[in-house]
Amino acid sequence: MKYRTFGKTGVKISEVGLGTWQFGGVDWGDIQEKDALDILHKSVESGVNFIDTADVYGMGRSEKIIGKFLKETKENIYVATKLGRRERTSNNTWPAKYTVDMVKRDIEDSLRNLGVDSLFLEQWHCIPTEMLKSGEAFELLETFKKKGLIQHWGCSVESIEEGLICMEHPGCESIQVIYNIFRQKVTTDLLPVAKKKNVGVLARVPLASGLLSGKFKKGYKFPEKDHRNYNADGAAFNVGETFAGIPFDRGVEIVEKIKEILKPSEEITMAQLALRWILDHDEVSSVIPGATKIEQAISNAKASSIPSLSKQVHIQIEQLYKTEIEPYIRGKY
Ligand SMILES: NC(=O)c1ccc[n+]([C@@H]2O[C@H](COP(=O)([O-])OP(=O)(O)OC[C@H]3O[C@@H](n4cnc5c(N)ncnc54)[C@H](OP(=O)(O)O)[C@@H]3O)[C@@H](O)[C@H]2O)c1
Repeated sequence: MKYRTFGKTGVKISEVGLGTWQFGGVDWGDIQEKDALDILHKSVESGVNFIDTADVYGMGRSEKIIGKFLKETKENIYVATKLGRRERTSNNTWPAKYTVDMVKRDIEDSLRNLGVDSLFLEQWHCIPTEMLKSGEAFELLETFKKKGLIQHWGCSVESIEEGLICMEHPGCESIQVIYNIFRQKVTTDLLPVAKKKNVGVLARVPLASGLLSGKFKKGYKFPEKDHRNYNADGAAFNVGETFAGIPFDRGVEIVEKIKEILKPSEEITMAQLALRWILDHDEVSSVIPGATKIEQAISNAKASSIPSLSKQVHIQIEQLYKTEIEPYIRGKY
């Protein structure tokens, strides 16, 4: 595993991290606590030292499992969590604004769930653009940083515009964005600014919810409790969080074309090559694939050690994006 400096934090994080939305046990079907703990242990044995979670993943379940794991491991692990959606889920609308009390409660709950005295990274969890524009949400996190309850803060965003707004604040140390072969506008419109401002970049949904692993066939039916069933067209939340916003059957067709360019083999899988494509952009601090199985986590971690893709391959993937992918992307971007 290779490690990259995480923006202004100066901390070295693994270039392959672990996403843990899956551990909530809600939007990806059931996942047993024991299996989640095994995935955490195997990831860390593979060199992973960066974990992404959120307070709303299973309403604290993901954080609590990570908290349990932190007690079991001797390794130094950097955990990033998120806030801002609990207030929304209570009645499905956004609060008029976030208050000190709301943020205090959210941070204190995450601290308790994770069993730590201070959060390594707290991120606004895709809150509305207007709230980012007002800047008040950022000042609230600055307040809790001064109090020592959080060490760093950043923002998970839905669009490039939002990422650029967040990076205008000098206190913003990371941007988490949907970034994969289906979302190449990030390469040209966001990464250069992040690099200039020395802001860390976390690439989420790097496998387009598993689609870029190349394992699905057209017409595949996902289980009822899986967001790939009920949010494939954005019925429940931002369509981009499911298959990166590409209609599923179209995505399967495109993945076949990507396979012809990346040429997966027995030794190097399509998922590893898709992660490698992201890692070839050195502005990215860490890719954070989620995993429902131990083998996935182990295999994904190996994307760090496979060779970079050639310049020619990158050009072909860019051309494919312009002609075959960009017209099909849906949702905020
Ligand atoms: N708004 C936000 O801030 C936000 C939104 C989304 C995600 N995130 C974060 O980003 C993380 C990553 O995104 P994501 O989990 O949504 O999408 P992802 O990483 O693109 O896809 C993860 C899924 O792909 C499948 N998979 C993983 N590795 C595989 C492999 N090697 N071979 C075959 N299939 C594999 C697994 O599902 P199956 O085995 O079930 O197919 C896994 O659950 C999340 O866990 C979360 O921490 C944040």
